[in-house]
Amino acid sequence: MTEAARPEMKLRLARAEEIARDIHLFEFRDPQGGELPPFEAGAHVAIRVPNGLLRKFSLCNDPAERDRYVVAVKREATGKGGSISLIDEAKVGTELTVSAPVNDFALARNAQNFVFVAGGIGITPILAMVRTLRKIEGKQFKLYYCTRSPEFTAFRDELSVPELAGSVTIHHDNGDPAHALDLRPLLAERKNRAHLYCCGPLGLMHAVRDMTSAWTPTSVHMEAFSEPERVKADDHPFTVRLAKSGETITVPVGTTILEAMRAAGQEVPSSCETGTCGTCRVKLLSGDVDHRDLFLPEQERASNIMICVSRARSDEIVIDR
Ligand code: FES
Repeated sequence: MTEAARPEMKLRLARAEEIARDIHLFEFRDPQGGELPPFEAGAHVAIRVPNGLLRKFSLCNDPAERDRYVVAVKREATGKGGSISLIDEAKVGTELTVSAPVNDFALARNAQNFVFVAGGIGITPILAMVRTLRKIEGKQFKLYYCTRSPEFTAFRDELSVPELAGSVTIHHDNGDPAHALDLRPLLAERKNRAHLYCCGPLGLMHAVRDMTSAWTPTSVHMEAFSEPERVKADDHPFTVRLAKSGETITVPVGTTILEAMRAAGQEVPSSCETGTCGTCRVKLLSGDVDHRDLFLPEQERASNIMICVSRARSDEIVIDR
């Protein structure tokens, strides 16, 4: 399902405040005071921000709360203006269109042990997970939360309480990659059948994907908070041949395979459209692919492609459709 097809509602902005440098918290409630559709930790909503853009934000409040949705938004000076519009233009009391929650980053139900890696504003879905797990007896977690400095650290007080001292590590690199937390020894080996959840900048997520290459692929979960780069310097147009129908679809620069297939009338399922959830996986029959997702493990890349982000290096690829 695409974002546009999700059920929507008008919600009132009940609270808006800066909670760390350049990070703002927004609380949405039903204008009539009713209950909101339920969600589970890891879910996001899509919000139509005042300048008309549709932006996804992870819910960070306790999923047991039925009367509000809370998101935290980083002011992205170099983005397309979605975060700046919400931060600068949305005033308490105004109503905004918010989609029903969708979860591409859900906690593994049967797991007992969890490792969380959050970079900056990537803490938001993970905070909802921490809130959930703290209430379930027997669930253990370790959170590595990496930020620039204390003033850029959202939810610092809440995550620094003594009860979490053994579970939460907050690391500041002061903007110097040489002082980044060395996650490699912490993640090299999967212990206690743990599931790992990572949300943060793309560089962090790719590094964590590499460090966990020895983990069972289904135990590593990623969620991107920013849209992937749409055009890279060496992108070129190519064709996708559908093996079953013989149809050939051209994919121009700046258009994803998913978009080109939909424009050609193909029905293709998708969800995150950032290369992390796995919904758009298609079997690859031939061709050279530039894999840009964070979902496929190395051993599955020769025979699969995530068509929401990946492109062809060759002039044509053939997929099993
Ligand atoms: S839609 Fe989620 S990986 Fe493509």
